[in-house]
Amino acid sequence: MKMMACRLLMFVFSLAQGNQAGQPFIVTQSPDVEVAFGSSARLQCNIAELFSSCSHVDWLKLDPRKPMVLHVTDRVKMVNPNDINNIVFNSVCWATIPEVTVQDSGMYYCVLSHGQFAYVGNGTRLTVTEPNSVPPAPSIEIIPPMAYASTVPLLCLVSGVIPSQARVSWLINGTVENGWTESALEEDDDPLKRLTQNQILVPAEEWEKGIPCSCVVEFAGKSFSKTLQHDDQCFAVFCIYTVAWVTSSIILLLLVGTTAVCLCKNPPLFV
Ligand SMILES: *[C@@H]1O[C@H](CO)[C@@H](O)[C@H](O)[C@H]1NC(C)=O
Ligand SMILES: *[C@@H]1O[C@H](CO)[C@@H](O)[C@H](O)[C@H]1NC(C)=O
Repeated sequence: MKMMACRLLMFVFSLAQGNQAGQPFIVTQSPDVEVAFGSSARLQCNIAELFSSCSHVDWLKLDPRKPMVLHVTDRVKMVNPNDINNIVFNSVCWATIPEVTVQDSGMYYCVLSHGQFAYVGNGTRLTVTEPNSVPPAPSIEIIPPMAYASTVPLLCLVSGVIPSQARVSWLINGTVENGWTESALEEDDDPLKRLTQNQILVPAEEWEKGIPCSCVVEFAGKSFSKTLQHDDQCFAVFCIYTVAWVTSSIILLLLVGTTAVCLCKNPPLFV
């Protein structure tokens, strides 16, 4: 198992790099799977290019609270008849998750151990739908910074969605950006109460031109968003500063006035 964990760590990095280079995955998986609560989900792992056997395949789930951590889950059952002699090459390996619940939703990766290497599939997102329930709109808040330098960090806070089933991204002046998503670390039994946050850095130059920055949440087949622009924020901060300035000036004037009156009424004695 330790070996597996080590390989997986390597995989996470290779996954990120592989993606950037636009290299195709050797092990591919079925795209997104959507199943109704209580039914069983089928996951597909295609290992045809590696001339190996399904007995070398494991399924792992991405930890919804720690984005870079995969763990072994006993919820996934392999359905391929494992070939004892390993002579026969398999091309497609199947697994099922019986009687799915909302907790089963998330990203699943199949991993093929092949000699010294581990090949990881491109992932399957499992979405579990609850019959006849329309989820309410999530709450989306964009928190702008009070001060910034060359980049403006915008933080989007989302609640009212199941973190593993929602995708949070940004639309910065019309361009889709992924940002960096993280789900709250504290355990909460009700996934709808967990907070998902996504941070993005916008170049200050563009931000100051007033480009629209929208936080987009895709959940239960719907898209929700909230938009913030420099001007709103500037106005808000300007107001706070103005109010603070006016208030402090009035207090100062009152203080000075009171002192003056006191001084007049009781002129200090100089002996
Ligand atoms: C993985 O690759 C397969 C085959 O190319 C493709 O159909 C599928 O959409 C990919 N999945 C993801 C999550 O990109
Ligand atoms: C925002 O998008 C518009 C339309 O695509 C483009 O003309 C403009 O230059 C962009 N602004 C910035 C600051 O990138």
